[in-house]
Amino acid sequence: MDTVQVPEVELNSGHKMPAIGFGTGASAASAVPAEQLVQLIVGAIAAGYRHFDTAAIYGTEEVVGRAAAEALGGGLIKSRGELFVTSKLWCTDAHRDLVLPALQETLRKLGLEYVDLYLIHWPIRMSKNSSIHNAEMMNFDVRETWAAMEECCRLGLAKSIGISNFSSAKIAKLLENATIPPAVNQVEMNVGWQQGKLVQFCREKKIHISAWSPLGANAVMENPVLKEIAVNKNKTLAQVALRWIYEQGATPTVRSFNKERIMQNIQIFDWELSDEEVHKIRQIPQHRAGSGKEFVSADGQYKSIEELWDGEI
Ligand SMILES: NC(=O)c1ccc[n+]([C@@H]2O[C@H](COP(=O)([O-])OP(=O)(O)OC[C@H]3O[C@@H](n4cnc5c(N)ncnc54)[C@H](OP(=O)(O)O)[C@@H]3O)[C@@H](O)[C@H]2O)c1
Repeated sequence: MDTVQVPEVELNSGHKMPAIGFGTGASAASAVPAEQLVQLIVGAIAAGYRHFDTAAIYGTEEVVGRAAAEALGGGLIKSRGELFVTSKLWCTDAHRDLVLPALQETLRKLGLEYVDLYLIHWPIRMSKNSSIHNAEMMNFDVRETWAAMEECCRLGLAKSIGISNFSSAKIAKLLENATIPPAVNQVEMNVGWQQGKLVQFCREKKIHISAWSPLGANAVMENPVLKEIAVNKNKTLAQVALRWIYEQGATPTVRSFNKERIMQNIQIFDWELSDEEVHKIRQIPQHRAGSGKEFVSADGQYKSIEELWDGEI
């Protein structure tokens, strides 16, 4: 098996990030035994993946850390520095005094001295004992939370810091008081939700977009335009969907727990889409799949989905 050499993108922090991330997102991960997940991640490292995306809420920080240790111990990689690990601050810890302890707990679970990228998972704060299905919403203070993220960066516990699920307006507000600008905004992005306005805004602000659900949103895996392009190019539909994200200047964070599809998804760097194909993809009807409606409530900070996304829906 040949190892794919994944290109890197340079972040505004000066650090480089591999151009495809391996997602370990929550619900699917809990159905797979931990040891099997560790071996899938070790296999992904052998295939060439270097960027692993986890989060405090996913319950996969330990398996990512175990896989990293195994890859290092087994000589698949020579040093920790060859890997890029992203984790995220959950909403119950989105408060000035809770950010550093949350990151320290993440690092303990990962068994690492630093994460490469630490993201605010959502522009949301919940009370400490909230669960995602039973959330007590509190006021999210971006200035205070970001100041604590900056402290994590200064301490060297996070090489780069960023955000996730932030609209252009929320980024603009964050930037008003930021000393360190966010390096990355991780958002839903795929051919069925192309995020034109946000992509343009982030490009102007030199904030890199990491695309979550690069395949998962509806209209992606069954999309006839992608099907036709895939057949003509002798690629799979998923490869076309992932390549399109890369060509937009963003990087996909894709999740597969299937060995063949893990291999398939990384083979997107030695071919390209034609202008005509890109034009056809631009015409695909748009729909946001992850609306965040679970974070909207009449007595909460965001009273509607429009408010949560500041109209970017
Ligand atoms: N920041 C956030 O708020 C946020 C939100 C959601 C997700 N994320 C991150 O983004 C990652 C990816 O998002 P996601 O898991 O929602 O969606 P995704 O990667 O777009 O789609 C995952 C689904 O696609 C299937 N799949 C993967 N490769 C395939 C291929 N080549 N052909 C056919 N099917 C394929 C997977 O099944 P198999 O396993 O069977 O291949 C899985 O069912 C997550 O794991 C997480 O790390 C972040």
